[in-house]
Amino acid sequence: MADKINLAVLLSGGGTTLQNIIDRIEAGNLDANVRVVISSQADAYGLERAKKHNIPSVVVSSKDFKNCTESFSKAIFSHIDKYPVDLVVMAGFMCLITIPEKYLGRVMNIHPALIPAFCGKGRYGHHVHEAVLEYGAKVSGCTVHFADNVYDHGPVIVQKTVPVFDDDTPDTLAARVFEQECEAYPEAIQLFAEGRLKIEGRKVRILK
Ligand code: GAR
Repeated sequence: MADKINLAVLLSGGGTTLQNIIDRIEAGNLDANVRVVISSQADAYGLERAKKHNIPSVVVSSKDFKNCTESFSKAIFSHIDKYPVDLVVMAGFMCLITIPEKYLGRVMNIHPALIPAFCGKGRYGHHVHEAVLEYGAKVSGCTVHFADNVYDHGPVIVQKTVPVFDDDTPDTLAARVFEQECEAYPEAIQLFAEGRLKIEGRKVRILK
C-alpha cells in the first residue's frame, strides 16, 4: 500500500474511465482520491458520475476558448491549482492542452490504440477503432502515457494488446479495448502512487 495520491480528472464525455477509477478506489485497489473533475463539455455525463460520488466538478467549456489552447489550458490548471493535486488524469478528454512546467510528468492520458499507431489529432473514441478496422490491423490495444504538449505523444507507461477479428465492428473492438483500458489505467496510476515511474527521455522505467 502507498500513501493515497490526489487526482484531478479531465473528461469530455461519458466518463466511463472516471467510473472505472472510482470503482477501483472504492474497492480498495487504487491508492488515490479523485479531488476534482473538470469537463470540457457542459453536458458530459461524466459530471453526473462525479456528482453521484460527491466529487466537486467544474466545466471549462472548450467552446469558450476556440483556437486558444493557451487560455483554455490556463483556465483548466487554475481550477486544478485550487486542490492539492499530485496527478492529472485525462479520461476521455478530447482537447489538446498546454501543460505548465510544474505539472510536466504529472499528467497522464489513455488512448484506445497502440501509440504511435492510430493516434493524433482527430483520432479519438470511435474514430480510432474505425481507422484500425479500415487499415486491416490484426492487433490493437490501449496506451497509457505521460502527456506532453503534442497529441498522444509523451512517454509510454503501460500498453495492453487485443486481437482484431474479421467480423469486428467499431463497437465490438472498442469494448474489447476498453476491458484492457480498465486494467491499464489503474495499473499506471498505482505505479505512480508507489513512486515507481521514472521518466528517462522518451522512456519510462518501472522501478521494482
Ligand atoms: C476511452 O476509450 C478512452 O480511451 C477514449 O475515450 C474513451 C472514454 O470516453 N479516449 C480517447 O480517445 C482520447 N484520445 P468516456 O469517458 O467519454 O466514456
